[in-house]
Amino acid sequence: MDRIERLADLRARVAGWRAAGERVALVPTMGNLHQGHLTLVREARGRAERAVASLFVNPLQFGAGEDLDAYPRTLEQDRRQLEETGCDLLFAPAASVVYPRGQSGQTRVEVPGLSEILCGATRPGHFVGVATVVCKLFNMVQPDVALFGEKDFQQLLVIRRMVEDLNLPVEIVGVSTVREPDGLAMSSRNGYLSADERARAPALYRSLMQAAQSLRQGVAVAEVVRAAMAALRESGLTPDYVAVRRTDDLGPVTEDDVNVVILGAAFLGRARLIDNLSVTRIAAA
Ligand code: PAF
Repeated sequence: MDRIERLADLRARVAGWRAAGERVALVPTMGNLHQGHLTLVREARGRAERAVASLFVNPLQFGAGEDLDAYPRTLEQDRRQLEETGCDLLFAPAASVVYPRGQSGQTRVEVPGLSEILCGATRPGHFVGVATVVCKLFNMVQPDVALFGEKDFQQLLVIRRMVEDLNLPVEIVGVSTVREPDGLAMSSRNGYLSADERARAPALYRSLMQAAQSLRQGVAVAEVVRAAMAALRESGLTPDYVAVRRTDDLGPVTEDDVNVVILGAAFLGRARLIDNLSVTRIAAA
């Protein structure tokens, strides 16, 4: 599997595949790959003749004081894992390729509304950074299909909305969250956890599971959220938010909404953990 850094080389490679009638799938990543990413690559291979992974730690989606500098960079290990998983090409551009005018001179993509709530409220500008880089990666790679993990549920909806609003010819596929045996959602940032924090971390998943069960039993949303926040605190996590929202647009739920998602974010040591579970509620009588 080749690693390409220059846009002209990427374009030439993809053009060759297209000339041969092959479809292209893209898995955008920031590297430090785990089984969640590799599952996306496997899924990509099932959906197109060619699978491309991009690896770019996107500075535009990190806020001031966030972990841009500390973000784990494991290029050679990532390259090897991608090759073993059957990825056809790794596109790993430098920041000067993605942002030739620097970050401040970069045209940005903003998905209003969806970008400012939940994780976007805690991390202002984060989803503008995500939408901008993903839009650029789509234009660089020109994939037929792109795959994203459902762990970043809000990110997935932001990207779907961007693709719809900008009429981008890319099919977006969400792939189920891959979990550790104790339920913790896999994340590159789990590496920030100490042994004690790692033992506490599955409390996020457990509290969302409990919340999902309560929602199915008809417990009121406010009570479900209160109980989940309390459970997080009892386990030594500092909740950022727990919210129950409509699955399709993250809008506030009414009694009539059947398809909902419960989302949670919590601070634990140097890490900010996020997770979510989709729930089908019993329709109101
Ligand atoms: O989910 C991620 O790893 C990043 O947000 C993404 C989609 C690769 C954009 O930088």
